Amino acid sequence: VNILVLNGPNLNLLGTREPEVYGSQTLADIEALVRRRAEELGVGVGFFQSNWEGALVDELHKARGEYQGVVINPAGLTHTSVVLHDALKAIDLPVVEVHLSNPHAREEFRHRSFVSPLATAVIAGAGARGYEFAVELLADRLA
Ligand code: DQA
Repeated sequence: VNILVLNGPNLNLLGTREPEVYGSQTLADIEALVRRRAEELGVGVGFFQSNWEGALVDELHKARGEYQGVVINPAGLTHTSVVLHDALKAIDLPVVEVHLSNPHAREEFRHRSFVSPLATAVIAGAGARGYEFAVELLADRLA
């Protein structure tokens, strides 16, 4: 089983970006955490981050055949992107949506998600641990 972990815009700045909201761990720290957990679970993981919507779409298209599930933190694109919604629908892989913070406890504009209607599960507000939970869930489902 191989799981693709995708991260959207501005998540490359984790560690210094609003640490009171997103925590002090960098994206590399999160990747290390997830890789360790994946290894324990006996699943493979691929990691990709981009600030470009189209690059995320390209990566999703390439995922078909290579990966059996997707963990995605679409970041700001969660709340805006019909394009990402369509790409996730097109590839027809199980998707777990992750947010470090809980968008529902924040500004109104973060309450809508274009990704949630396609998600097997949504994990929000669990910080970096949310990525581990997501990989664990997909590993379970795909076993
Ligand atoms: C986020 C929440 C989004 O609202 C925000 O735009 C992000 C990060 C999170 O992980 O909490 O960039 O997806």
